[in-house]
Parts: sequence; C-alpha cells; structure tokens
Amino acid sequence: MCGIMGYVGPQQAAPILLDGLTRLEYRGYDSAGIAVAGGGIEIRKAEGKIERLAALIDSEPIAGNAGIGHTRWATHGPPSDRNAHPHADPTGDFVVVHNGIIENFYALREELQASGASFASDTDTEVLAHLVASEYDGDLVAAVRKAVARARGAYALVVMAKAEPGTIVAVRKISPLVVGLGDGENYLASDIPAVLHRTRDFLIVEDDELVVIDADGASIETISGDPVQREVFHVSWDAEQAEKAGFEHFMLKEIHEQPSVVSETIAGRLEDDRVVLEDAAFDDDFARGIGTLWITACGTAYHAGLVGAEVFRRTLRIPTRVEYAHEMRYGDPLVAPGDLAVAISQSGETADTLAAARLAGELGARVLALTNVVGSTLSRDADDIVYTRAGPEISVASTKAYLAMLIGQYLLALRLGRARGVLDEEVARRVTAGLRRLPEMVEEVLRSEKDVMAAAESMVDADDVYFIGRGLDYAVAMEGSLKLKEISYLHSEAMPAGELKHGTLALVTEGVPVIVVITQRDVYDKTLSAVQEVKARGARVIAVAYDTDAEIGKFADVVLRIPEGEDLLAPVTAVVPLQLLAYHVARLRGHDIDQPRNLAKSVTVE
Ligand code: AGP
Repeated sequence: MCGIMGYVGPQQAAPILLDGLTRLEYRGYDSAGIAVAGGGIEIRKAEGKIERLAALIDSEPIAGNAGIGHTRWATHGPPSDRNAHPHADPTGDFVVVHNGIIENFYALREELQASGASFASDTDTEVLAHLVASEYDGDLVAAVRKAVARARGAYALVVMAKAEPGTIVAVRKISPLVVGLGDGENYLASDIPAVLHRTRDFLIVEDDELVVIDADGASIETISGDPVQREVFHVSWDAEQAEKAGFEHFMLKEIHEQPSVVSETIAGRLEDDRVVLEDAAFDDDFARGIGTLWITACGTAYHAGLVGAEVFRRTLRIPTRVEYAHEMRYGDPLVAPGDLAVAISQSGETADTLAAARLAGELGARVLALTNVVGSTLSRDADDIVYTRAGPEISVASTKAYLAMLIGQYLLALRLGRARGVLDEEVARRVTAGLRRLPEMVEEVLRSEKDVMAAAESMVDADDVYFIGRGLDYAVAMEGSLKLKEISYLHSEAMPAGELKHGTLALVTEGVPVIVVITQRDVYDKTLSAVQEVKARGARVIAVAYDTDAEIGKFADVVLRIPEGEDLLAPVTAVVPLQLLAYHVARLRGHDIDQPRNLAKSVTVE
C-alpha cells in the first residue's frame, strides 16, 4: 500500500529518494518522508503529496549518501506529519520505514510503554524502531532479525542505524520488496518502476528474507540466517512507458494505449489453431479433468472475472464460480482437488487475492495467476501464469489492465476449450478472428471520444447514476459504474437490467442518468424493455450499442457506438466508452483523476 525506497552510494541520497518516491506515489500519497545518514541521521517528513516534502527539503536541505524514504497510505493513525514515515526510536539512532501492518503492535506498544518508552506517533511502525533499538548490540542485522521475530503481520521493513551509516537492512514478509543493482550504488524499492530509469538489474526479495545493501553490493539471507543465492532479474521494460506521453493524466494515456495493449496481450499467443500461453504449464489431461473453475479477485479485476466466468461457462460448459477474494478467503469455499483457481490481479500484490489464491491451492486446486506484474508475489505463488502484458499502469483507476485481463481470459478459454475438446470449431474460429480484429475496433471506439465528452457534460451535475445490462453487458456495467464512482465521486450503482423493477426503479425519476450497455443479441429485447421502463419514468438514457443497432436510437437520449462484432468479445469494446465517460465526468468536476481520494493503486493490506 505504501511505497518504500532506499539508496546507498556516492551520490546525495535525498534527490534520489525523492525521485523514487514520486514514481511510487501511486502506492499511497497521504504523507511522505525521508531519512538520510550523513554526520548523524536526519529526518524530513510532511503530510500531503511529495511536493510538500520536496519543498520542506528545499528549505531545510539534508545531506548524506545513504537514506530511506516512504510514501504513505494510512492504516494506523490519520495522515499527519507525526504519522508520516520514517519513524525513529527515542534516541534517533535508528530509523525505519515500513509497508504493511504489524498486527500485534498494540501488545508490543503496551509492553514497551510499560518499560518506560514513549511514542511520537499513532503508527504500528514506530514499535519496530523501538524494538530494533532495544535489540541492538553492535550488529544491525542481528537486531533487525530479533525485532521482526516479535512482530506478526505482513510487511516490508527497511532500517538504518546511525552507527552503521553506509548500510541498509530490510526484511520482507509478504509486502513486496526489490533491490536495484547499480554500479557502486544500490537501491531498495517496493516496486521496480521506482528505479527502473537507474538500473535494469534487480534482485527480488522473497518472503521471510532479509537483505543488506551497501554501496558495494547486496546480500540476501533467510530471516533465520541461511545464505540465499538469488539470480539477477533483468528487466526489459521501457522506462518511457511509465511517462504520461503528452496526455493530461495517466488514466487517459492508459485508455488510449489499449489498442496496443490488446495487440501485445495477444502477440505470439494465437498460432493457427493453437493458443500458446508460455507460462501456463498445465497439460491437456489436467484441462480435461477440471471440476470447477474458480475465479477470484477484487475491484476491477473482479469485474474482469465476471466477464471471464460467463465466457468460461459458455465455452467450456463447466461449473464456474467467481468470488470476491476477501469473501472467498473466509467463506469456506468448496474448492476441491482437480479444480482450477484463476486469481486475477493487475499488481499481483493485492493481499486478499493472494490469500484466496493460497487457500485455493491448499484445498487442492491448481492456481493460475492472471497478472500484469512480472515477478509479483501472485505470479511466484501460482502453478501457472498468464501475464497480461499491459505495461506499468500508474492511474489508480484501472483501465488497460482490465482490457488485458479480458483478453487473457479469452485466450485461456480457447486453450482449455481445445484441450477439453468441447469448443465448437466454428465458435473458436470466430473468436480467434475476432480477437485479432480487436485492436482496430478499440481504436475506432477511441476515435469517438468527442461523443463521450458530450455525454459527460450532460451528466456532470447528476446526484445518482444507474448502470444496467444483461449477461456480459451487466459485467461491463459493473465496471463502468466502479470507474465513475472512484474518480468522479458520483454515486452510481450497476445492476442486471431485469433487477431494476424489483426495487431500484423507485429511484429513477425525471432526468436521472441511466446508462445501458446493450450488445448481447440473445437478450437484446429484454434489455430494451428495461430501457423503456426507465424512459417512461423520465430517465435520461445513455446507451452503449453496436453501430449497426437501428432500434436503440428510438429510446435512448444518447447512443455511444461501438463496432459490431462477436457478442462474446463485446465487453472489450463496450467498456471503453464507459472508461472515457468516467474520465471526462471527473475532469469536468475538477478531480485529481490519477490519485482519487481515499484510494491506492495497490491494496497490500487486508
Ligand atoms: C480499479 O480501478 C481499482 N483501482 C481497484 O478496484 C483494483 O482493481 C483492485 O484494488 C484490485 O487490484 P489488483 O488488480 O492489483 O489486484
């Protein structure tokens, strides 16, 4: 949830830390801080975005060649200067930054208070600084090891001591942590993009490992002290991909990247009548024997799973369940050996999704990770991986990753369907051809952005918005509604079109925007009836429909057109006007689109 950084080398640490934190700001941005070891250790921290910290450092510079930094998304204690990281022990000789949650921090804090300690913040993190200090006996690694042995929870912890100024010690337990390897300088970060412009060589720190970096190198050992040999992970992403490329916001840039993302996700994977999923190792026997196909995820990834569930059920004719990960992990699910659990996560670090996937694995399912981040925890936990290849997604509101998740599931459905021998050849041929056409079709939708802007203007002052659809259209409506909520702060709800008359119709009055997704031919008339019902109550209807649909224009006030294609693939094009609609409503309302209030890109706590 939070972003962490570390640097040791010949350069001044402060500007490097600030730069890294800026690139990590999407992980959390309610406060930020750095600690730098020069003569002693000095800390600068401030509530608010990184600019405030940068301004503070400008007015009170901080010199030294080693340091740690943090950008925070609050869990314990409200956003404030005092709760911003780094935190120190009372002597100021030990400083820590931390991502995650120390579950037993109350007990630890009470114990420390009973022996006279006083605390300067409300955070769980501060107990770690106290514990390291109290365990220190001239060896920082030993002190950190003893301190974390007392802490329960999920965290990445980074520690510096005044007495060992050129060394940084870090520990990973679930929350992500990587080492960036430089030439005579080294970095720590919670995410590769933070230092990708400085190095392409990384060591991925695994769970329950401790890493020590100094200017000359990095060494990893298990938390119990056994040495670990880790291969260098060379990253070939383009650092430019993480820039805005001329768009006003990352979200808009990412929406416009979608044609190439779709091409990229498909690239090399559709070969004549074969689907090649290079990191999915299951064989045809396994595919034939799957009992139930589970999909688990959160947020937008869950909405992608709603589409996938329908696609798998229709094409494979096997029982398919889609579960919110946070419900599944405590819901005593009836997962059985021989099941396939598809865990979907852009970041591959969402705590609930990781836990649900692990549970499914423990219950005997084969776990397949559908994720965007190479080397993420989910990808390392899983038996099989399908990478979505969407590139770094910076905007908190997920767009291109969603599209890539849909494509990943279509590919998986083709692969499983062929192996199981259940896929109708004609359907397979049409879906394969349809997938190849999608980049151009998404491009075509993007060319109609002006129509979406007009629709956005017409609903910018609404209080409530309703999204409806049936089947795959309902899944898309769910995602459209979430997008609108998270960046425009408009209240919105999505529901199956047939459900409206069972209650929510009471809220549809004159001028209330109702957005209908109407692409699925088998239920077209049914959805159209719901459109007529809301129209009769004075709703302002905005429809997303095929460009060949001559009927919908008679009932809808605005029609956002998408090119006609395979109904099964329609979610890929139908969601794009809804992403743009959310974006333009939020822009007109003057919101911070890339960093919506109260949200973080990656939810690595429960
Ligand atoms: C989407 O716009 C959200 N920011 C959020 O719902 C997100 O999809 C969810 O937190 C899951 O993230 P993940 O894909 O990284 O697991």
